[in-house]
Amino acid sequence: MTQHAFPEGNDGSGGGSGSGPSGFGGSGGPDGGGGDDGGGRDWWRESVVYQIYVPSFADADGDGMGDLRGITDRLGHVAALGADAVWLTPFYRSPLADGGYDVSDYRDVDPRHGTLDDFRALLGRARELGLRTIVDIVPNHCSDRHPWFTQALASAPGSAARDRFIFRDGSGPDGAEPPADWQSKFGGAAWTRVPDGQWYMHIFAAEQPDLNWENSDVVADFERTLRFWLDLGVDGFRIDVAHGLRKDLTRPLRDTRGGDTAPLNSPPSGENHPFWDRDEVHEIYRTWRKITDSYAPPRIMVAEAGVSAARLPLYTRPDELHQAFNFFHLRCPWDAASFRQVIDTSLAGAAPTGTLPTWVLSNHDVVRHRTRYALPDGTALPAWLLTDGREPAADEERGRRRARAAALLTLALPGTTYLYQGEELGLPEVADLPADALRDPMWERTGHAQKGRDGCRVPLPWTRTGSSYGFGPGGSWLPQPEGWGERSVEAQTGRPGSFLELYRTALSLRRGFLGDESFTWLPSAEGELAFRKGAGLVCRVNLSGAPLPLTLPEGAELLLAGDELTGDGAGGFSLPPDTAVWLDTRRV
Ligand code: GLC
Repeated sequence: MTQHAFPEGNDGSGGGSGSGPSGFGGSGGPDGGGGDDGGGRDWWRESVVYQIYVPSFADADGDGMGDLRGITDRLGHVAALGADAVWLTPFYRSPLADGGYDVSDYRDVDPRHGTLDDFRALLGRARELGLRTIVDIVPNHCSDRHPWFTQALASAPGSAARDRFIFRDGSGPDGAEPPADWQSKFGGAAWTRVPDGQWYMHIFAAEQPDLNWENSDVVADFERTLRFWLDLGVDGFRIDVAHGLRKDLTRPLRDTRGGDTAPLNSPPSGENHPFWDRDEVHEIYRTWRKITDSYAPPRIMVAEAGVSAARLPLYTRPDELHQAFNFFHLRCPWDAASFRQVIDTSLAGAAPTGTLPTWVLSNHDVVRHRTRYALPDGTALPAWLLTDGREPAADEERGRRRARAAALLTLALPGTTYLYQGEELGLPEVADLPADALRDPMWERTGHAQKGRDGCRVPLPWTRTGSSYGFGPGGSWLPQPEGWGERSVEAQTGRPGSFLELYRTALSLRRGFLGDESFTWLPSAEGELAFRKGAGLVCRVNLSGAPLPLTLPEGAELLLAGDELTGDGAGGFSLPPDTAVWLDTRRV
């Protein structure tokens, strides 16, 4: 047995296994030479996509708000990490009422984020670095400042301009009550009244009126938007609220379920919901797929669809989208049986459509997983945020260990992993942002009953010191906490046992096991996950709460451990709680 890569080992090797931070390479770059990874497979089947939350990644012009030039300057970090692609959250013209998910011009860049030329430069730089670029498309709603909505407000009830949205008369005497009692995902009613007495629907904030997908202008305009970005050279789209586009407003609105107050991205309760996950949305994606397939190489689409495990695979049928985010993995409690069930369900759901699942631990809408794992199981996160993260207290060490173990678990699974910026730095949630700093519309819309999502959106630390820790030459639109610089890319580069070095090593090693998508559970102890991916990557994760013996088969090589192992190294290793290991068993 050869011993390699203890990220926290005392051998002074820096946690590397010889693969080093430059672990990029091995699969074909986005050279326009085909949609495959150089080995005849579609590149997205087993890739690592790095999510860039545009307002918070890097700010080149010093206005405190992230921008495209900042991203271009810092893309080398993503390439050195070993990712295959970036997904950029919206950077289109927007009043930024919801971080850019309120678009007022789908085919232009917001001046605070840059220009179309900046976007072209970003695409060029990504290509040079071998990175693909996926952009966000927000089809469920636009901004209330979109020219269409301005026109709709200036037009009479029943007009063609209003038909692009969902306007209805109110209920009750004088129509002073909303047409239905549906709740907005961000709190409060999902309907807002306009001066002439009609109401318009918005699943999210009032600044985000829902579009009417039965209107042919809406359908045609989004096809134009897709082609606009495809012609510029993007490699794919992430589709926002993909399960919400079509609504059934034919039933008496009062007779439908009283809204949907489930957390963002949770499946709706029951079937045949008036606005979630309706069968008709699939017609839209079948049309879009024809468009993306008409480009060479074909471009990809990934759905953000908070639907049941049984219905998620409908979105990835061969003539629809390529992938859908797997929020079941993100929501899974720290428990071996639950993870096993999520993994089995995800693989089984993907199999009939010939796809592979995606794996997500964090994104810009949820409490960062390092912090989730630090809290007692079952903690109600919105209530915890309201206490500024004090009650219950987070167990930092537990969160640190579990986040590292979860990364190794996730990256060993067949399929594509979506990483959220900063998770490679092990960033925690910033739970104690002062109330006057909060920007998430949830805060005001819930009457301060929910703080919202700003705590996972605090701008990244790049350097130990300096203006906004290297985020930009000015300040930062959300305050960065003290000590943020010690979590920076600079501080973690080359530091033995750092999150960044763990991720770099893991992404590099992972490349050696792509291509063979097979997956097999191995015999394991109670509370342990053990599986083999492909021809020989074995992953073992100890979720049992007590140390477990770790026996390496003859010929197996220990590749990587999330934390230092205990034991004597002579066949007598012990796998500590909340620790994962990777073994190479190809020569066993
Ligand atoms: C999605 C986005 C979220 C946004 C919402 C409305 O869930 O991920 O950030 O607020 O859609 O567009």
